Amino acid sequence: MKHWKKLSHKEQDTRITDALKSNIDYQYKIPLGIPVSKLDQHVFSEQVSFLREAPLLRTYVANPNHIGCHTFGHSESFFSGTQQLEREVIELLCVDVFKAEEHSCDGYIATGGTEANIQAVWIYRNYFVEICNATHNEIALISSSDTHYSVSKAANLLNLKSYSVPVDENTRNIYPAQLDAVINAAKDQGIKYFIVICNMATTMFGSVDDPDLYALHLTQHQVRFKIHADGAFGGFIYPISSPGSNMHFKNPNISSITLDAHKMLQAPYGTGIFLVRKGLMKYVCCEDAQYVNGMDITLCGSRSGANAVAVWMLLFTYGPFGWLEKINKLLYRTQWLCSQLDELNIKYFRHPDLNIVAIRAEHIAEELAKKYEMVPDSHNQAPKWYKVVVMDHVDIDYLQKFVKELKAI
Ligand SMILES: Cc1ncc(COP(=O)(O)O)c(C=O)c1O
Repeated sequence: MKHWKKLSHKEQDTRITDALKSNIDYQYKIPLGIPVSKLDQHVFSEQVSFLREAPLLRTYVANPNHIGCHTFGHSESFFSGTQQLEREVIELLCVDVFKAEEHSCDGYIATGGTEANIQAVWIYRNYFVEICNATHNEIALISSSDTHYSVSKAANLLNLKSYSVPVDENTRNIYPAQLDAVINAAKDQGIKYFIVICNMATTMFGSVDDPDLYALHLTQHQVRFKIHADGAFGGFIYPISSPGSNMHFKNPNISSITLDAHKMLQAPYGTGIFLVRKGLMKYVCCEDAQYVNGMDITLCGSRSGANAVAVWMLLFTYGPFGWLEKINKLLYRTQWLCSQLDELNIKYFRHPDLNIVAIRAEHIAEELAKKYEMVPDSHNQAPKWYKVVVMDHVDIDYLQKFVKELKAI
């Protein structure tokens, strides 16, 4: 690990306090030109005593705006202290979690996985237009049928066709022959450039796609492509639970990655993360953002710097080993649940390195699913699967209660 370590609360407090000191202090320096200030003092008073012990809450009150991307070019100088903490988060994740060379990637804290996925598609669409002279109707998205609906949103917003590759009902793996058929059909419809969304844990199943399978078939078809890995759910667990995987920046096929700190890392909402190889962010540079120092090259525009600090605190509170322990605890509980399901001859899908168990709906009575707030694969049609996501609050005592009722039924 080059950057990831554990820091005590006191060490974190000192770093965050220093970062806030490097940001603008509206009491001493009164900027006339920016529509930004700290949170309203009548409602969010700085004087309350508990803020002294709570550097994250102090950051919320200071209200830094992290507009833009801070891993390259210029950024607004008003918030340079907390921007540095965001840079540390991005570099740590790229280098220590996703095996990138140092300073070889850019990234930012997005509003969520949806935005990070759309940001990737936006970049690659513009890349193909600019580099290959492509027209929009020559560029398409391709992903498995288990892919999150944010990919359909991206296609709709960016005026691109989207192709879905069927997966095996039991293994949730993409059928290679079907992948070929889909690429052929797309080519017949005039598609020459493909943007692949490769799942690093699907929403319903936790299944993982193979980026090299996409790369192999698209190369055989002699078409150009870019691969984005969607690790909104799996990004904080799969690279650690599956160190031999090919879902990282050492794999030349992967150009960018989404991960969501507001899922597995239990960060506040608004902490999606977008990581991308250097040289690609520029394709979404908005020249019209002239009043923003460094331009704005993110989808969301203004965003809270406190969210970056929250992710920074979580990563440095656990450190790599603390996080490994936490993941192993969740995987242990997941394994426990699966062994109980095996004993009951209940059919389910579970990727061995992930903490989602999708149980065949025929084994789950509707009342039981409701009582335990299991999520179905469809709310509009008869569900085929119900999922259990083994998060921090799902302990074995509770799973035991669930299994007991499952047995009784
Ligand atoms: C695989 C995957 N991608 C993207 C998203 C979208 O994330 P968000 O809700 O943070 O926008 C989700 C959300 O569940 C997801 O599971």
